[in-house]
Amino acid sequence: MCGIVGYIGGRTAWPIIVKGLQRLEYRGYDSAGVAVLNEGDLKLRKCRGKVSDLVQMVKGQDLSGAVGIGHTRWATHGEPNDVNAHPHVSMNGKFVVVHNGIIENYREIKAHLIEKGYTFKSQTDTEVFANFVESLYLSEKLTAEQAVKAALRRIIGAYGLGIICVDEPNALFAARKGSPLAIGLAEGEYFLASDATPIVEYTDQLIYLEDEQVAVLTRNGYNISNFNDDHVDPVITHVDFDVDNVDKGCYEHYMLKEIHEQPQSIADTMRGRVNPENHTINLGGIADAMPRLASARRIIVVACGTSFHAGLVGEYLFEQYARVPVEVEYASEFRYRNPIINDDDVIVAISQSGETADTLAAIRMAHERGALVLGVCNVVGSSIARETDSGIYTHAGPEIGVASTKAFTSQVVVLAMMAFAVGRRRGVLDEATYASLIDGLSNVPSLISQVLDSAAQIREVARAYQLAQNAIYLGRGYLYPVALEGALKLKEISYVHAEGYPAAEMKHGPIALIDNCMPVFVLATHDKFYDKIVNNIQEVKARKGQVIAIVTKGDSEISKMADYVIEIPVCQEALLPLVAVVPLQLISYYVAVMRGCNVDQPRNLAKSVTVE
Ligand code: AGP
Ligand code: GLU
Repeated sequence: MCGIVGYIGGRTAWPIIVKGLQRLEYRGYDSAGVAVLNEGDLKLRKCRGKVSDLVQMVKGQDLSGAVGIGHTRWATHGEPNDVNAHPHVSMNGKFVVVHNGIIENYREIKAHLIEKGYTFKSQTDTEVFANFVESLYLSEKLTAEQAVKAALRRIIGAYGLGIICVDEPNALFAARKGSPLAIGLAEGEYFLASDATPIVEYTDQLIYLEDEQVAVLTRNGYNISNFNDDHVDPVITHVDFDVDNVDKGCYEHYMLKEIHEQPQSIADTMRGRVNPENHTINLGGIADAMPRLASARRIIVVACGTSFHAGLVGEYLFEQYARVPVEVEYASEFRYRNPIINDDDVIVAISQSGETADTLAAIRMAHERGALVLGVCNVVGSSIARETDSGIYTHAGPEIGVASTKAFTSQVVVLAMMAFAVGRRRGVLDEATYASLIDGLSNVPSLISQVLDSAAQIREVARAYQLAQNAIYLGRGYLYPVALEGALKLKEISYVHAEGYPAAEMKHGPIALIDNCMPVFVLATHDKFYDKIVNNIQEVKARKGQVIAIVTKGDSEISKMADYVIEIPVCQEALLPLVAVVPLQLISYYVAVMRGCNVDQPRNLAKSVTVE
């Protein structure tokens, strides 16, 4: 995945690039590097670790130069070390490259270059590209732009690229296929970045490069063309983005900030859409698609990770309230298994980042087969938002913590709005039920605030289990996807092995794991499964498991059996996932902090998975 930043203009590039990379660290933080060019004099600094390590390393050095590129890496080819860090310089020092993505045919090109006498310092596919461009530049006597395009026509794979040629110090080159790149336009200067966050404090005029486009940025202007040299007139987007949103505020970590933002982010998701006064739901983004959605024979949700879990909640919602059959698929499986997609199926792709490679590929495949594809995305202008036929933005605001929290609840709110609106349109929901669901939705922010008020008590529960090696999460019905999500949160930021199960499945295997060291988080609220889940708790206690139950406020029965109870307010069953997930998010957060883990940047992960 990786983050790319580039600058050309009249200012010193280094601080602009470094600050931008810090904003992109959610995309990867295995290594960081920057190259700046000062009238043909190249200065390259890179090292394993975070952008802060790079800043530390170069303290006191003169890194002037008004053209530069930088990179924060999530390694795909070659371990995270100093040598494999980007930027990569070609063997004869002519080209400097930062890359996001994978060059799939790099082995073949590398073999060909080795035959021509090229040697390689790193194990990356990126260095192969740098040398490939240089070999074409030198042997075919091309301009830098021609050489870049000649190489691009021959490589296979996904990439966002930032390129400098030392012989042409007044130009910055960018190319895209698959991995996102935005160009910021300002007076006499241009910015390049993997998303808008490094750019928005300098300009609100942005171009999102499309696939198979090359941009040449100079201080005097820019030109965008395709690989065959045809000029392209780009769409200039005006971005309205609050930079303060990307700071931590008074919170120690982005994740904690984002958990606490949920009453607001959910309200933002519903703003202008859910009207509790006249009991209407207005989904402008999919208004044109509504007739097809409402008459769909089947909805197929494609997503990954937490977004997949939101999709599972969507399945329960759509099937109960709109009576439309739903299948929820991991995008990575869906895209490769030759799925049956009929004309009257509607695909709903869910993605916080809007850049997840597998989800994007699933959308493209569904399009090829003629399906209508709707998007549920958080990042405005992201690739998925642009490639879907229409969609609904979650408007949760920037989510920086790698563990997704507020994006999940906003996705569920969008799916609930869709399911209720479709249910009403199909005549499945009567007016009174529809109105009561709308009232319920409108009330969710205040219910979540009540859960957040008990954060201190939840922290004490986390303290009791901070040293656990394993954990099980159980839920039924609407709370089964929440059990999966709770387990994912714990593993990804605390490195504690955790499994989520439908509670009734426990007796088919996982119960063998229960002993007095096993914490079992049970979602045991007052709903139609209450008696059954009480039985499941008894089964765990009979085997001396530790039960931490998430219960409805005032529950007196479960507190007699469970080791700990965490109360959540009374809530309609269909909306329970939105409220019940919050204590689980907080538990994982506190356990991770107590174990000394890097909460916002857990090992081996990146926020946006733009490679397969
Ligand atoms: C969530 O905590 C994860 N980091 C991850 O599973 C994430 O939800 C997944 O990669 C999908 O991302 P997306 O929503 O941006 O497509
Ligand atoms: N393939 C490049 C590397 O391993 C870029 C990785 C990426 O964008 O994920 O360094």
